[in-house]
Amino acid sequence: MPLVTTTEMFKKAYEGGYAIGAFNVNNMEIVQGITEAAGELNSPLILQVSKGARAYANHTYLVKLVEAALIENDIPIALHLDHGPDFETCKACIDGGFTSVMIDASHYDFDKNIAITKEVVEYAHDKGVVVEAELGQLAGVEDDVNVSEADAQYTQPDQVEEFVDKTGVDSLAIAIGTSHGAFKFKPGQKPQLRFDILDEISKRLPNFPIVLHGASSVSQEYVKIIQENGGNLADAIGIPEDMLRQAARSAVCKINIDSDLRLAMTAGIRQVLTENPAAFDPREYLKVGRANVKTLVAHKIKEVLGSDGKA
Ligand code: G3H
Ligand code: 13P
Ligand code: ZN
Repeated sequence: MPLVTTTEMFKKAYEGGYAIGAFNVNNMEIVQGITEAAGELNSPLILQVSKGARAYANHTYLVKLVEAALIENDIPIALHLDHGPDFETCKACIDGGFTSVMIDASHYDFDKNIAITKEVVEYAHDKGVVVEAELGQLAGVEDDVNVSEADAQYTQPDQVEEFVDKTGVDSLAIAIGTSHGAFKFKPGQKPQLRFDILDEISKRLPNFPIVLHGASSVSQEYVKIIQENGGNLADAIGIPEDMLRQAARSAVCKINIDSDLRLAMTAGIRQVLTENPAAFDPREYLKVGRANVKTLVAHKIKEVLGSDGKA
C-alpha cells in the first residue's frame, strides 16, 4: 500500500487507547529492523527522518528505503520529518514524498511559533500532508534549573487551544518532563512525568492527538552490554516503560523513539566485535544490530504502545 498520513492512525489510536511508535531511521538496517517487527505484528507505523538523517543518508535514499519497506510489509506507514527546523526543510519534505512533517519552532516565542507553524500548515495541507508542531521545551528539564525555570519549560495548558486554533496544526508535541537522548534523569533522581499537565491539555483539546518526544526508556540490558564491551554509558537513564504505557492509553497518539534504537544497534555491533575481533565484514555485525532493532521494536509495539494488530 502507498504511504499514508497519520490522520486515520491517530483517530483509531485515540479511540482505542493506544499509541503509534514513531521511530527514527538513518540507514537500511534500521528501516528493515523496525518494519519487519511492525509487519509481523500487523502494527501501523511512523518512520521519521531528522535533519541530521537527511544530511547523513540523503533524502532520496531514505524515501526509497521506506518505499522498499512498503513493498515488503503490508502495513500502513507514514513518513514524517522529525524536528523540521524551518519552512524550507518542511517544504522540501512535503514536495519530496513525505506524508507528515513536524515544524519545530518551539524555541521561539509564542507568537513567532504560531506564525512559522501556520505558514507550514497552509503549504502542507494544500498538498495533503499533515503537520505536527511543538509547544513548550523539552531540552534542559533535567539540567540544573530551579523549579520556576523548569515549570516555564513545560507546555502551558492555557496556551494550547489558541495555538491549535490559530495554526490549524494536526497534532501537538508537548513538554511534560521527557527529554532527548540517553541521559534523561540524574542518578538518584526519581523519574517523573507531569501527567497532570497532560490531563489538563487533553481536557482543553478534546479528540486531539498529542505527541511525546524524548520517550526512549534506555534499556539497562543494552546499556550493560555496551558497558561490558568497551563503551561508556554509565548513568544512562530513560523514561520508565510503565509511564509510557500510561501515556499511550491517554490522548498521546505518537511516541517518539530514537535513542533506544541507537542503543540496541550499538550493543549488537559492540558484542560481535568483542567476541570476534577479526570480524571485518559489515554484514556480520550489522545483521546483529538489525536483529536487536527488530526485537526492541517488537517489544515496544506489544508491551508499551499496544499497537499490535491495529494495522
Ligand atoms: O530528537 C532528535 C532525534 O533523536 C534525531 O536525532 O538529530 O541526531 O538525527 P538526530
Ligand atoms: P529519544 O532520544 O528519547 O529517543 O527521543 C527521540 C525523539 O524525540 C525524536 O524526535
Ligand atoms: Zn524529538
